Amino acid sequence: MSEHETVDPPLTVAIDGPAASGKGTLAKRLSTVLGLPHLDTGLLYRAVGRQVLDAGQDPADSAAATAAAEALAPADLQRTDLRGPVADAASAKVASIPGVRAALLAFQRRFAEDGAVLDGRDIGTVVLPKARVKLFVTASLAVRAARRHRELEARGGAVPPLDVVLAEMAARDEADRNRATAPLRPAEDAILLDTSALTSDEALARAEAIIRWKLGV
Ligand code: C5P
Repeated sequence: MSEHETVDPPLTVAIDGPAASGKGTLAKRLSTVLGLPHLDTGLLYRAVGRQVLDAGQDPADSAAATAAAEALAPADLQRTDLRGPVADAASAKVASIPGVRAALLAFQRRFAEDGAVLDGRDIGTVVLPKARVKLFVTASLAVRAARRHRELEARGGAVPPLDVVLAEMAARDEADRNRATAPLRPAEDAILLDTSALTSDEALARAEAIIRWKLGV
């Protein structure tokens, strides 16, 4: 290599946004298109919440939740009970504990070392502040609640009424936006993508165009 040649840093893509904004599907599809690994960071908080519940402890208990976060192993993310209202509530509780966030930070940064797509709430602001591409994916509360309700119906079993799903989602948004450590907010250099009126294909096409523009290719 000549002394004038430079090596681009690994490509990291940070995708943040509230629940059911479409960020997870978008992150997964982008990771396939870009040939990069994908980490759904919400699973980390969900797995920590589950471990605490398994141990018969309270997800709001700072010492118990921090110990669970420090002991988290990649296999814990494969659990099949990480979705649903109980895991939703437990994850939001452990997510407000600074010790939990500190323990999960190293895990996330290690994952992204050689390039990756990460989706969550604080990827562009805290986990990967130097990510080469940052997207903040949003949609209206009504659209997000309707999406989550359809997902629950598709999964089968008892499904709460739409207004209950909407109220729970609004409460979780509120907790995510107002917590003292790493609140949900767009990074200053994030590009907003509102998916309220977009199909998954349209959201992907927009995100690909943004990435091409950001990378100058
Ligand atoms: O994205 P998902 O809904 O699976 O996230 C579950 C919970 O984990 C969120 O409500 C939020 O409280 C927390 N979370 C977080 N930071 C992230 C990802 C998720 O605080 N990067």
